[in-house]
Amino acid sequence: MLNGLFITLEGIEGSGKTSHAVTLAERLRGQGRTVLLTHEPGDTRAGQAIRAIFLDPAVSLQVAAELLLVLADRAQHVAEKLKPALQRGEIVISDRYADSTTAYQGYGRGFDLALIGQLNRLATDCLAPDLTIVLDCPVETGLARTRLRNTAAQGPDRFEGADLEFHRRVRTGFLNVLKAEPRRVRLVNSDRPKEQVFADITRFVDELIDTRCR
Ligand code: TYD
Repeated sequence: MLNGLFITLEGIEGSGKTSHAVTLAERLRGQGRTVLLTHEPGDTRAGQAIRAIFLDPAVSLQVAAELLLVLADRAQHVAEKLKPALQRGEIVISDRYADSTTAYQGYGRGFDLALIGQLNRLATDCLAPDLTIVLDCPVETGLARTRLRNTAAQGPDRFEGADLEFHRRVRTGFLNVLKAEPRRVRLVNSDRPKEQVFADITRFVDELIDTRCR
């Protein structure tokens, strides 16, 4: 039995997921809840090795290889981290999950969406989030934020270095995921001051907790 709550944060590069995931975890812990804050790719031992290959622009990867790597990471993540935490009744917040594969490898790279759906079901063992928040902003805004983070020592990764059109397709991908599953997926405009964005995120999370934990 999975008694916990599973929340995912999704969005393009620089959409603000990671910092909001941290703030959300802190808020929920402050309410006395047990929270697992995790991310994809790379939050298991196998995942760390996969992540190094997956993100390194110097490692050449076929689209199918890129897809299978991120799915392997997910299968490990679900089995080692997500399901055990949900079985313990915790709130799990994952910074990226299956919708990122639909958006990046599906819409971005052009890989068959139906096949990605099937492979995602295999990798997730059919574990779907209770709530997914897509943080949305123009790709130019997001990429400008990631450029500020990059340093001379650490340049853009495989995806940050992709062209604008790729990132526009990824953004469209997330918006289409939202259209396809409006009950699970909520949109938050992240091209606004942080406090306003976070207020919308907490509204959706509080609604979920209210309906599930009555
Ligand atoms: P990361 O450094 O974790 O940062 P962020 O999530 O803040 O962008 O980068 C992970 C990268 O992997 C990101 O560019 C999106 C990409 N990715 C995929 O292409 N497919 C996936 O299924 C996942 C989970 C991530």
